[in-house]
Amino acid sequence: MYSMSATTTPLERSSRLIRRLTLTLGEQARIDRVIISFLLGAGEFPGNAYDQVAWATPFVSMLEEAAPRLVQAMRDVRAGKLVACYVRGLPEDTKKAALVLLANSIILGKPFNYSGQCGGQLVMRLVPAAGSMGNTNTTRDDFQIHTDDAALPRDARTEFINLYGIINPPGTMTSYAAAADAVSDLEPSLVDALREDRYSLRFPLSFGFGAEMWSSPAPILAGTDDDLELRFPSYAVKPSRDGDSEALMAIEKLTEALNRHAVPFALDAGCFLTFNNSRGAHRRDAIGSGDRLVLRTYSARTLDFLQSITAQQGPIFSIESYAKKIHR
Ligand SMILES: [Fe+2]
Repeated sequence: MYSMSATTTPLERSSRLIRRLTLTLGEQARIDRVIISFLLGAGEFPGNAYDQVAWATPFVSMLEEAAPRLVQAMRDVRAGKLVACYVRGLPEDTKKAALVLLANSIILGKPFNYSGQCGGQLVMRLVPAAGSMGNTNTTRDDFQIHTDDAALPRDARTEFINLYGIINPPGTMTSYAAAADAVSDLEPSLVDALREDRYSLRFPLSFGFGAEMWSSPAPILAGTDDDLELRFPSYAVKPSRDGDSEALMAIEKLTEALNRHAVPFALDAGCFLTFNNSRGAHRRDAIGSGDRLVLRTYSARTLDFLQSITAQQGPIFSIESYAKKIHR
């Protein structure tokens, strides 16, 4: 019998939802020109996150004039026509990269961060650190498949994760799997089980809560095809009830399906990847030898919920006391 999974690669299966864009030499030259002109007039990169957003916002229209295809791709991700977009051929210089990353992040939504994560910086610097715990963004080992900040309610999580490569050891790949592709592989009874309040999710270690803060029982999957909500740290999720073997099997089968559908991208210098944090899961291979630096931002359509639970304007939010309130 004809089988899609036996005849197509993960890249081909996901091509409807994931776009790859290689900028032409003309686009690259135009982007470089508008960056230089912007930086001449806009002054130094501000130290404060709120000012950084205001500083980069006028650059969006300049970027659109230089590379309309790039800006349109970001809008397609925001609108949900795509779940991910990978772009090659952007500037490799860190200062220029931070500007383009912020502009893309502003097109996708409102950039933000949590104060306890990566020093509370809006433009986070992801670098490996010796002796890091497993499944954190500083480990050199494999970072297994997951969605970010899954223990938090949807409105407190990031909608888009935006990554910009500066230095990447050869072969170190970041992969993304569309939830719709993975879920279509699963038995209906397991999909139903994933939609029930049968799972406890551990809060991220990067929030500094320690290793054992777990959410109340929650579903892993919600929503329909066009608006799937996946919250799934594969290494930090367990059945809420001891002996719930069906929930355990659902976790295992979902992990396998996501790994099968994961499409790899190299975050080499000048490469950018954005993806939807609810409609798919991501992972990173072990980091090869040598340095690595990836710049990251979070973007969400609205910061209303974060503003209401913290009584802070943002874009940097302290959510520790809220998280302590909702944990089990
Ligand atoms: Fe992540």
